[in-house]
Amino acid sequence: MSTNLVIESRADWRWWVTPRYLRDKPVHRWCVFPHSFTSELVHGLIDEWALTSADMILDPFCGAGTTLLAAKEKGISATGYDLSPFAVFATRVKLGHYSPDELADNWKELRNSIDPSKWNGASREYPELIRKALPGHLLGAFDSVNNRINKMDFSRSNRYFFKMALLSTMPKFSRAVATGGWLKWIDRRLTVKSLPDEYEKQVQSMIKDLLSSGNGKSNATWKVGISDARSLPDAQNTFSAIITSPPYPNRHDYTRVFGVELMFGFLDWEQTRNLRYQSFESHPESHPKRPDYSDYSEPKQLAQTLKRLEKSNVDERMPGMIKGYFIDIHLSLREVKRVCRSGARIAYVVGNAQYGGIPVVVDELIAEIGSKLGLKCEKILAVRYRGNSAQQMSEYGRKPSRESIVILKKR
Ligand SMILES: C[S@@+](CC[C@H](N)C(=O)[O-])C[C@H]1O[C@@H](n2cnc3c(N)ncnc32)[C@H](O)[C@@H]1O
Repeated sequence: MSTNLVIESRADWRWWVTPRYLRDKPVHRWCVFPHSFTSELVHGLIDEWALTSADMILDPFCGAGTTLLAAKEKGISATGYDLSPFAVFATRVKLGHYSPDELADNWKELRNSIDPSKWNGASREYPELIRKALPGHLLGAFDSVNNRINKMDFSRSNRYFFKMALLSTMPKFSRAVATGGWLKWIDRRLTVKSLPDEYEKQVQSMIKDLLSSGNGKSNATWKVGISDARSLPDAQNTFSAIITSPPYPNRHDYTRVFGVELMFGFLDWEQTRNLRYQSFESHPESHPKRPDYSDYSEPKQLAQTLKRLEKSNVDERMPGMIKGYFIDIHLSLREVKRVCRSGARIAYVVGNAQYGGIPVVVDELIAEIGSKLGLKCEKILAVRYRGNSAQQMSEYGRKPSRESIVILKKR
């Protein structure tokens, strides 16, 4: 590892690398991804790097769109990509421009057309996960409201708005709940009778959010689409800054956490499975098709970590997953370097991991892989330390893992 690596403590940003503040923020709260950072972090970096409306930011792992929305709040244009159609949808809806009056009129019409007496079964066959998550009449009810939205003679962005509201209402009813990065099954939730009122509450609160947030008035432009961060569609030298957070190598699988939303509104079971395979290798079920990576050379420190993992009693799939994870990091940084202008700064928000008490120093390894690609690592901002799980702690002692922001620069 390079002795020139600067690791700076930035504990005052510790809540900015968690989704905590997003849950109370107008518009951002319509959909919050686990392991997202807050808009404060994006604003902080924009100020620190003195970005202006002449700049153009990219987030190649945009999740629910925090970077794009926060950039827009600062009047800076931004582009986002994600492999997941649900992530792209959530980002698009949050960035949209709406007329609250028109939404209120549309809502009256939609509300009047929702008729619980017609909620029989679902209009199509849904995968088992959804049938389990929305048992009894719930699935038929959600399906029926969704079909109503699709049939309304509203603008496309307004229909998307109401669909987002429906998806945001779902966790109150679903037996499958995303807690942190895992899907947890619980028994009792709201019953189908409450759906019209809960949906109304969500729609009204989203309309209120638009009014309190200025409804996205900004000269900044934005673009979001489905793309693999390992092979981006943009020309070289397009962006002047990157603010992003790739999945952490902690086994969390976004296609499972958001399996209900994905298969209710976007993909069938097989497409969801393919998305799982093609995702970044941050969970053991991923086995993506990758662009050529013959230019990658594995950092020595990583090779040593992999040897220790292989000799340990951790899940035997972990060494392969961690190995693949850093190949993916290499490919995403190679793309980021290509699409960035010279002088561009790149922030990767990441979490170090540990398996069986063996640390995987993700931030330092990213700095090294970036340096090998010709990017300068300006510093690593050590923002927060996360405790290990109770089970790990009793076996290996207290070993907190660092969550940090790796700041690289294109020379
Ligand atoms: C840590 S989350 C990003 C959260 C985001 N910062 C936010 O504010 O919501 C990582 C995202 O990477 C996406 N992802 C996984 N593999 C990807 C790939 N190969 N290319 C692009 N996005 C990918 C996941 O779908 C997930 O949305």
